Amino acid sequence: MSRPYFYSLVRAAMAVGIAGAAVGATAQPSDPVKIGLMLPGSGTFADLGKGISNGFKLYVSEQGGKLGGRSVEYIALDDESEPSKANENANKLVKRDKVDVLIGTVHSGVAMTIAKVARETNTLLIVPNAGAGEITGAMCAPNIFRSSFSNWQPGYASGLLAAKKHKTAVTISWKYAAGDESVKGFREGFEKGGGKVLKDLSLPFPSTEFQPLLTELATLKPESAYVFVAGAGQVKFVKDYAAAGLKTSIPLYGAFITEGTLAAQGEAASGLMTVLHYADGIKTPKNEQFVAAFNKAYGAAPDVFAVQGYDAAQLYDVGLKAVKGDTKNKAEMIKAMEGAKLESPRGPLSFSKSHNPIQDFYVRVARGNQNVMTDVIVRGLADPSPDCQP
Ligand code: BEZ
Repeated sequence: MSRPYFYSLVRAAMAVGIAGAAVGATAQPSDPVKIGLMLPGSGTFADLGKGISNGFKLYVSEQGGKLGGRSVEYIALDDESEPSKANENANKLVKRDKVDVLIGTVHSGVAMTIAKVARETNTLLIVPNAGAGEITGAMCAPNIFRSSFSNWQPGYASGLLAAKKHKTAVTISWKYAAGDESVKGFREGFEKGGGKVLKDLSLPFPSTEFQPLLTELATLKPESAYVFVAGAGQVKFVKDYAAAGLKTSIPLYGAFITEGTLAAQGEAASGLMTVLHYADGIKTPKNEQFVAAFNKAYGAAPDVFAVQGYDAAQLYDVGLKAVKGDTKNKAEMIKAMEGAKLESPRGPLSFSKSHNPIQDFYVRVARGNQNVMTDVIVRGLADPSPDCQP
């Protein structure tokens, strides 16, 4: 397989025996439904892509390998978290492979281009991570859904938490849509609680040269710090933060900074308080079943990315079931998905008018290899999405 366009076709018909063959060029409900998984398979966000893909496939296997009565064919493409390749990659899946649905992606910059392609071609898109506000804001469209969060949501909820204990904060983030929007959300929540952000520091994505920013942070002496970095970058950040002696002097807040990486971060992460829409130890039958099934299938505990992938599959299944697998009946599919009330491992999950999740946000504390749920900071949080005119 050739790089840089590492393109892997996983033509794995999941159901045992595909009933019937294609008739002419038009896909029939007896053909497998084609699912384009446009996710990072390499780079900083590779593990996030794997979690999403594993979560999606777990749900499908729980349905006997079928969604809406149709078997499933996966077409997987490594997007490399590279915005400059996103247009070509998304068009490959839509125009060459003729996927029925796009599931993608992790990186906000890449996802915005996927959303543009989805709008232009009226392809159904479910975003299983990237929080770019525009996707469910100015770019919102009937055929675009998100099973994860908007960047504003965890930022805002983190700001509410930090403001309970601190009056000042400095933020550090990667300079791209996700970092900018996460910090904006944090500021709004922090100010609502009476706090003041002294300064926003940033570095380019996916740089891990954190030292100059940590030095500046130390001289600014805020009561707290908020950071948006993710994936492999968060491992180095949390270790650098502890090594610089800041962990005890400037309490650190963040959303994703300990998600799925506690084993790699070790003692440096211990005790860190984070806010997300999933946590370890949510005591619902659905979550307990999900955690057990995920562990059995993959020999590892799930994280928020796996949950977002699982729920992307659940959401698509709701649409497909409503039309008995007839993907041409898009209007009915979309109507059913808009009204979906999912039992997610994260808790109750429904969708706002902009097709963004309405969900609870949990306070978690890093203990050993778990982000243990200790509280709910805000229930049923919806992105305001003022720019979405569906
Ligand atoms: C984003 O680019 O939107 C993103 C990436 C990783 C974690 C969270 C958000």
